[in-house]
Amino acid sequence: MKKIEDLDDLNNKKVLLRLDLNVPLKDGKILDTTRIDKILLTLNYLIKKKAKIIIISHIGRPKGKIDKSLSMLPVCHYLKKKLNKEIELVDERIFNFGSNFIFKKENDKIIFLENIRFYEQEEKNDEEFAKTLSNLGEIYVNDAFSCSHRAHASVDKITKFLPSYCGIQMDTEISALSKVTSNIDRPITCIIGGSKISTKLTVIKNLIPKFENLIFVGGMANNILKHKGFNIGKSIYETEYHLIIDEIFSLAKKYECKIISPIDVAVGKKVEDKAMIKELSDIQNDDIILDIGPKTIDLIYSILDKSKTVLWNGPAGYFENPNFAVGSKAIAKKISDLKNKIYSVAGGGDTIAVLNKTKAIEKLNFVSTAGGAFLEYLEGKEIPGIKALNL
Ligand code: 3PG
Repeated sequence: MKKIEDLDDLNNKKVLLRLDLNVPLKDGKILDTTRIDKILLTLNYLIKKKAKIIIISHIGRPKGKIDKSLSMLPVCHYLKKKLNKEIELVDERIFNFGSNFIFKKENDKIIFLENIRFYEQEEKNDEEFAKTLSNLGEIYVNDAFSCSHRAHASVDKITKFLPSYCGIQMDTEISALSKVTSNIDRPITCIIGGSKISTKLTVIKNLIPKFENLIFVGGMANNILKHKGFNIGKSIYETEYHLIIDEIFSLAKKYECKIISPIDVAVGKKVEDKAMIKELSDIQNDDIILDIGPKTIDLIYSILDKSKTVLWNGPAGYFENPNFAVGSKAIAKKISDLKNKIYSVAGGGDTIAVLNKTKAIEKLNFVSTAGGAFLEYLEGKEIPGIKALNL
């Protein structure tokens, strides 16, 4: 891949910079800034080289509709403070931009486009949309490894229209992950949590032959519990995945990978509630599973004690409410206590938020900003954003 550092002259060049500033938000407040902090290196590099920067990013899944709660504004404010620079958030539709619209004043250096997923064309990888986007800049840089597994217009199709380069953070993540995957000690335990159930179930299927233990926690575990016949009340759950779960269990048998799911849980009637620990058989129709219980934590500890490598993606519960952050914090603490005994890799925006809260982050061997992309990379799958830069 051509790297951003290969460019000699960036003076006054308009650089379209795709970042993944998809940070966890609650009531417009950023819960964890790691994804933004990690990108400051690239931004400072471009600033030093006197480039004109147009930042493209997404937050959440607005599905092509404008949703003010998923505005990039909080991220823009945070970046302004961190860089001590004027940054304008442009919420005008990009189709309305004239060629000089974007940098109105001579001294304008950084422009932030509003959430790119407010356009339905983005996720469709629409060629015309990518072309319109490309007209805003002269060079394209992808520094968003964590969303490069998405063949979306601002990640993939855009590279058809502009000289395209890999950013500093993306290069660092790919190099680190390639080292991790080429030299891995067994037994390997993979802990999968979070709420992006459908995205991850398909990937996991292909990962089973690579692991000795696969532990499901968080929203991911609900589908497994339901599949096993437990009442999961009003917990998040995705229908239509029974066949994949069947396949997961039969592959696990074939490749001798142990599947572990919660044996007790913490529930609430609402996400704001206090936690109530329950056996699986006691879950009521109006309960929401929001964390793993103490017996499950002990079970995970005993598996980690016997593992040589742990890969963790996705929290064990609704960690935004501290009452349901117990399981996630316990996993983070155990992994950090096992420092020097286990090789640990974690990835994903929410997982990083948990690690930061527990200060476990420095104790892990490698922390990737990527969640889904991290899993697909482990799977050995071609990542569209990387492929596009190589063409
Ligand atoms: C992530 O947080 O993993 C990336 O931003 C991708 O988000 P997505 O799963 O909504 O595509």
